[in-house]
Amino acid sequence: MDDNLGAGQGWRFAKRTQWDVSDNEFSARMAELKKEGRPLFDLTVSNPLRCGLDLSELGIAGSFDKDGLLDYRPDPLGLPSAREVVKAYYAEKGVNVPASRLLLTASTSDAYSYIFRLLCEADDEVLIPAPSYPLFSFLADISDVRLKSYALEIGEDGLWRMNRAAFMAALTVRTRAIIVVNPNNPSGSFVRSEDLDFMLVVAKERKIAIICDEVFADYALDAGTDAVPTLAGRCEGVLSFVLSGISKILALPQMKLAWMLVQGPEDVLEDAFKRLEIIADSYLSVNTPVMLAFGDWMGRRCHVQALLQARLRENVQAMNEILHDYEGLDALRVEGGWYALLRMKGVYNEESFVLRLMEDERVAVHPGYFYDFAEGAHAVLGLLTPTGLWREGLMRLAAYHRRHAL
Ligand SMILES: Cc1ncc(COP(=O)(O)O)c(C=O)c1O
Repeated sequence: MDDNLGAGQGWRFAKRTQWDVSDNEFSARMAELKKEGRPLFDLTVSNPLRCGLDLSELGIAGSFDKDGLLDYRPDPLGLPSAREVVKAYYAEKGVNVPASRLLLTASTSDAYSYIFRLLCEADDEVLIPAPSYPLFSFLADISDVRLKSYALEIGEDGLWRMNRAAFMAALTVRTRAIIVVNPNNPSGSFVRSEDLDFMLVVAKERKIAIICDEVFADYALDAGTDAVPTLAGRCEGVLSFVLSGISKILALPQMKLAWMLVQGPEDVLEDAFKRLEIIADSYLSVNTPVMLAFGDWMGRRCHVQALLQARLRENVQAMNEILHDYEGLDALRVEGGWYALLRMKGVYNEESFVLRLMEDERVAVHPGYFYDFAEGAHAVLGLLTPTGLWREGLMRLAAYHRRHAL
C-alpha cells in the first residue's frame, strides 16, 4: 500500500537524533584492552566512585528516612527543605540566595535542557567556551539549539582568558545564552573578573542570558587572584542561571540531584521562574528520598571534599615533579576541577599518538580533540586517578613521548 499518509515507508526518527553512534576508535580500543585483562594505566579516571577512595564513612545509606521513602509531596521546584540546604550552601560562600529562586533537577544536564527550552526557539544559538565539555553538543541537539564557540586562550601566567574579539564575532541576533563553566572542564580555568564584567555588559545590553556551570567550584587548587569563585550574587541586571549539583560537590553522581539558581531583574525573573516551574512540573524528576537525605550528606561534605582535594593536589604535585625536567610535555596550570592538561610538543596527529601510546605503552589519556581545542596537541587527564597508577602512567607517557614525538 502506498499513499500520502506514509504507508509503506520505514520507521522514521527525528533528524536531531541522527548521531554517529559507533564507538570512536579510542573508546573501542580501550574497551578491548581492558577486556584482555593486562594492566592498563588508565589516566582518564573522573568517576569519584571508581577512583579507589573510601567514601563509606559518609554513611550514605543511613541517611535515608524510612518514613520519607513512602511519602510523596510533589513540588516542581523541589522540596522546600532541600532548597534550604542549597541556600545554606551559598550562605557559607557568603552569598545570600533566596530559596524561592532555586529549582532542583535530577542533574545539571536536565537543568541545561530546561533552560534551553525556556530561552531558545529551534536554531537559536548558545555560546560555549572552547575548549569545553563534549556533552554540550548532544544537549544542544536534543533541544534544537546551535552551539557557537568563543575561544579561551592561555597566557604567559598559565591563566586562560576569553578572546574578546572572537567572543564578539560569535554573537549574532540569534544568540540567546552564553555558557560559562567555572572552573572549566577540561582547562580547569576560572572565569577572570574582567572577562566576566565584559560579558555582563554585552549580556545586559543585548538581553542575552548567562548560564554558569559551577559543578567543580568547590575544587579550587591554584586559582589566580582575579578568579571569580562563583557567579551567584554577581550578575546584576542580567538573567542568569547558576548550576551545580551533588555529582561533584558530594562525589555522588549516582544520586542524581542538582539545582539552578535563577537571578535577574525582578520583572523578567518572575516570568522566567514561572515558566521554568511549569517545565519542571511536567517532569518532576527529582526523587524524594534523595532530597530528604541531602541535608545530612551536605553536612558531611567537608570529609568527602578533603579526600578528593588531597588526591587532586597529590596528583598535580606528582605531575609537576615528573614533568619538571622534560620540556616535551607542558603540564598546564590547574586552577581547579578534576582534570589536567598536557600540551604535547612535536605531536602532529593527536589521535594516532594517543592510540599508539595506549597500544604500545598501555597508557590511556584522552586526546584534546574530544574537547575542541583551537590549536596544539593536548592530552586530557583525570586527576582522580589513583596516585600510584598516575605516577607510573605519567613516567611511561613522558618516556614514550621522548622516544616518539620529538
Ligand atoms: C562541566 C560539567 N558540568 C556538568 C557535569 C555533570 O553534572 P551532572 O551529573 O549533574 O549532570 C559534568 C560532568 O562531568 C561536567 O564536567
